[in-house]
Amino acid sequence: MTVRSLLFIPGDSEKKLAKAESFAADALILDLEDSVAPAAKPDARERVAAYLKDRPVGRRTAKLWVRINPLESPQALADLAAVAVAAPDGIMLPKAAGPADVARLGHFLDALEQVGDIPPGSIRILPIVTEVPTAPFRLGDYAEAGLPRLWGLTWGAEDLAAAIGASTNLDPAGGWAFTYQMVRSLTLLAAHAAGVQAIETLYVDFRDSEGLAASCAAARREGFTGRIAIHPAQVAVINAGFTPSAVETAEARRVIDAFAAAGGAGTVGLDGRMLDIPHLKQAQRTLAAAEAHAHPL
Ligand code: COA
Ligand code: MG
Repeated sequence: MTVRSLLFIPGDSEKKLAKAESFAADALILDLEDSVAPAAKPDARERVAAYLKDRPVGRRTAKLWVRINPLESPQALADLAAVAVAAPDGIMLPKAAGPADVARLGHFLDALEQVGDIPPGSIRILPIVTEVPTAPFRLGDYAEAGLPRLWGLTWGAEDLAAAIGASTNLDPAGGWAFTYQMVRSLTLLAAHAAGVQAIETLYVDFRDSEGLAASCAAARREGFTGRIAIHPAQVAVINAGFTPSAVETAEARRVIDAFAAAGGAGTVGLDGRMLDIPHLKQAQRTLAAAEAHAHPL
């Protein structure tokens, strides 16, 4: 099934880890990076490794991802050595500068999968591709980089703002400022160019369910396939937001039926509207998503 919600859990929080599986997130991201203070990182690494070992592949209720520290940090290799042998479903790579970083992480995983007796290539990679100023310029290169572990692309606005000395990433109306709209769109396009999941960034105001629902609806209309959650209350809203509604599903079926009835025609009329192949593709995509979520895991 596709992954709609990915809930962050600070890796040093025994309490949050203990509850993590009860929120119905499609994936958990056990964090070793910025939600964990430097002094707590060694402890978090051990906790997260133990969490994974207690939940072997095949006995997981959610996909289990780990966000490691950035590749150029002193912690990254220690993070990987501790967690990769416990077979996470994937590694989230923060502050990725481009496809070369994902390739480098892939080589580390090649070796660690051998150590852990894990099927080669099974640990996937989700890089955060807009956190350093060079990264947006390389977004178009993911599609041709030959990265079989690449599972999706996601973006973030906080670290980029910090990296470029911006005092805000918002415009005066409260939406994303131009730079962040731009890198968001590039991430969306780059993910589809590479044929991987396009994952929308987090919604900071975790008490605002209505705002989150509207933002998820907008993101899905634009082509994002899932979203990061930072609080348990966001999970159900995100899951609903990235599941086609009954109305959308019925509409998609009508479009597919109209094409089927037209016997291979490239364009048909429905309710006084012209439909051609892009409409058919979109309807097929909607139906596939609806069917995937009707039979979870
Ligand atoms: N995972 C698991 N449990 C969580 C959680 C999370 N991400 N966020 C909150 N909870 C739990 C809390 O422990 C609390 O449990 P309790 O009712 O048993 O005390 C309950 O859900 C309600 O939490 P609440 O009081 O509303 O929030 P908070 O003030 O405790 O925490 C955050 C707010 C933002 C610190 C917290 O949601 C969090 O840690 N989010 C993830 C942050 C993160 O990983 N960021 C990295 C990516 S940017
Ligand atoms: Mg960050």
